[in-house]
Amino acid sequence: MGTQTEKDTEKTGGCPEEGEAPLFQIVWRLSDAQVAELLGLYRNEWWTHERQEADVRRMLEHTDIVVGLCEGGRAGAPGRLVAFARVVTDYVYKATLYDVIVAPDYRGRGLGPLLMNAVLSHPAVAKVAHAELYCLLELVPFYRTLGFTDELGGLRLMRLRKS
Ligand SMILES: CC(C)(COP(=O)(O)OP(=O)(O)OC[C@H]1O[C@@H](n2cnc3c(N)ncnc32)[C@H](O)[C@@H]1OP(=O)(O)O)[C@@H](O)C(=O)NCCC(=O)NCCS
Repeated sequence: MGTQTEKDTEKTGGCPEEGEAPLFQIVWRLSDAQVAELLGLYRNEWWTHERQEADVRRMLEHTDIVVGLCEGGRAGAPGRLVAFARVVTDYVYKATLYDVIVAPDYRGRGLGPLLMNAVLSHPAVAKVAHAELYCLLELVPFYRTLGFTDELGGLRLMRLRKS
């Protein structure tokens, strides 16, 4: 959060469809404006729609890797945040991905894989033994195409509800 420099941004491939914006920028740190846009993305999703700005800002500060895809813009001055994901990792054994979201008006154009490839090729994530996430059954095929498997024996997700 705060001031975004060119170091925090990176150009990436564009939408595959002709006529679409040819270029997105990957951002590794969100500016204040992008935090507001992230809150907009969160408003749409069932597991994030109640999140409050102060909590989200604190969460971002303590998240190991934040990845955003922004529309074109200029070098060091990306446009609107249209996709987001984040990672919590121990940098050796595990990297857990959370909040993989593409803006509704950008879905179905391949931005999901572009975002996921940015996350998975981040040097810290590329080096860990396991990249993991949880998702609804309907999204298992999407993550399988990216190399994830749900064949994990009898593993179950366990949760202790604290609030
Ligand atoms: C899931 C998501 C990130 C995929 O991004 P995207 O840019 O739409 O990805 P693509 O356009 O490349 O689509 C990838 C594939 O996933 C499928 N897919 C996307 N969302 C899906 C859903 N909710 N249910 C079932 N399949 C879905 C697409 O049909 C497509 O399949 P195809 O390649 O066989 O046509 C995006 O749809 C999204 O943000 N969804 C809402 C938030 C969410 O549920 N995130 C996942 C949390 S685990």
